[in-house]
Amino acid sequence: RPVQPEPSIRPDASSKLDLVQRPRRNRKSEWARQLMRENTLTAADLIWPIFVMDGTDARVPVSSMPGVERLTVDQSVREAERAASLGIPAIALFPFTDPALRSADGAEALNGENLVCRTLRAIKDAVPHIGLITDVALDPYTSHGHDGLLDADGRILNDETVAVLVEQALVQAEAGADVIAPSDMMDGRVGAIRRALDAAGFLDAQILAYSAKYASAFYGPFRDAVGSSGCLTGDKRTYQMDPANGTEALREAALDIEEGADMLMVKPGMPYLDILWRLKESFGLPTFAYQVSGEYAMIEAAAANGWLDGEKAMMESLMAFKRAGADGILTYFAPRVAEKLAREG
Ligand code: PBG
Repeated sequence: RPVQPEPSIRPDASSKLDLVQRPRRNRKSEWARQLMRENTLTAADLIWPIFVMDGTDARVPVSSMPGVERLTVDQSVREAERAASLGIPAIALFPFTDPALRSADGAEALNGENLVCRTLRAIKDAVPHIGLITDVALDPYTSHGHDGLLDADGRILNDETVAVLVEQALVQAEAGADVIAPSDMMDGRVGAIRRALDAAGFLDAQILAYSAKYASAFYGPFRDAVGSSGCLTGDKRTYQMDPANGTEALREAALDIEEGADMLMVKPGMPYLDILWRLKESFGLPTFAYQVSGEYAMIEAAAANGWLDGEKAMMESLMAFKRAGADGILTYFAPRVAEKLAREG
């Protein structure tokens, strides 16, 4: 076989393209990349969702969300202190309700001494300056796992549900919730909650409307975490949005804003960045994205298998939300990210 001549690797003038623009120039070194950077991620962009449970001084790992634990009230207070010291502005609370306290009508949601209310008061006492967000929806409290009340045929009763959600919101506001976040997707709930909050004197309680909440497979691990996966009958497609729809999210958001929403939420996050972008562009309201349990679990599972670099994927996924216009991100990675940012400056 004849020996092939070595290809020349030495640059010579004839191999040069005649380019005026060479975008790579702006990426040539770290200082240049820093200077060109369009978006930044800071601890102040993060909202940390935590799962609370009954008991004292205990933590239980959520098996489908490695690194995430359910916390007793006292442990939640400790984590709230940690969040505050890391510069995380707000925490969102989700209860794991004792199955014995779940019922068809979700009455435990209206108990001023329920887990969420006790956690609100305990954190407010110990860490008064952290923002506290509570979810308005009945699924942690219903024996059937749905966000609303059902009729005899198992259909969701919209208006009857809204009446209960209003009471739930009032109970949360009384216990100290700063932000009321209806995640139930019933029609008319934002307006009803706003009127009731105002009438009760909670003029400052903000409403973060889950305007675009999709019927998603990515909530699976969350339902494990709050213990509603085993009991959910059917699915949530008559109230949560169809993943095929984008323009409908604009109509949902427009209604929520007319009814009094202070902030909007898109959920899930990564598969719906187009929705996030469209809502932010169309309405300009503070708009948040929820990187949900399944998104977290995917990154963690791949990282645990050595299939990707978990920390890099975490940071890249969160930057994507900033690029798409998010004012803040609900993410189970919050403390880990804030710690990394604090370490690395
Ligand atoms: C319930 C609720 C859900 C999530 C937040 N609030 C689940 C659902 O709608 O079934 C999911 C959050 C997550 O997956 O991280 N209203």
